[in-house]
Amino acid sequence: MWHHFTNTAEETFALGERLGALAFPGTAVSLIGDLGAGKTVFARGVGAGLKVCTHMASPTFVVVHTHEGGRLPLWHADLYRINEEEELEQLGLYDVLDADGVVVIEWAERFPDVLPTDRLEITLEHSAQGRALAVRATGPRHEALSKSLGG
Ligand SMILES: Nc1ncnc2c1ncn2[C@@H]1O[C@H](COP(=O)(O)OP(=O)(O)O)[C@@H](O)[C@H]1O
Ligand SMILES: [Mg+2]
Repeated sequence: MWHHFTNTAEETFALGERLGALAFPGTAVSLIGDLGAGKTVFARGVGAGLKVCTHMASPTFVVVHTHEGGRLPLWHADLYRINEEEELEQLGLYDVLDADGVVVIEWAERFPDVLPTDRLEITLEHSAQGRALAVRATGPRHEALSKSLGG
């Protein structure tokens, strides 16, 4: 686990962008943090790092957004409005977790049981000014990614 402090949205975006550049097929990222913590800013950075073509709107109303045209397909999900775990299958979340792309999930902590056991987990917290990010790999597949991102 390592920690990173960002003073601005641009810095949070830039960290996401680096992750997008380093991501491998099957990368899964869970983003944990309150409303306004910067999860969507980070996810947009990932899209920029992958060089996806589509504009990355806030996914609050569409639960799983697909972004193509980049180095790897990117799926950006927001589980904020999901109430039942059963909905996730219908929404295609399990399919995209099995595909060899990059999946970034906001409010991932709402459904801990459906997350891949091996993932990169990023917690974002408001602090006096800026955001405190904590990054950890939960399994061996994401360990090197966590290290290269932090180093
Ligand atoms: N250090 C920072 N990192 C990320 N966002 C920041 C930061 N400082 C200010 N902000 C602002 O906070 C808001 C974060 O919004 P958003 O990414 O949509 O949050 P979430 O998806 O976690 O609800 C944006 O308006 C952004 O400009
Ligand atoms: Mg968001």
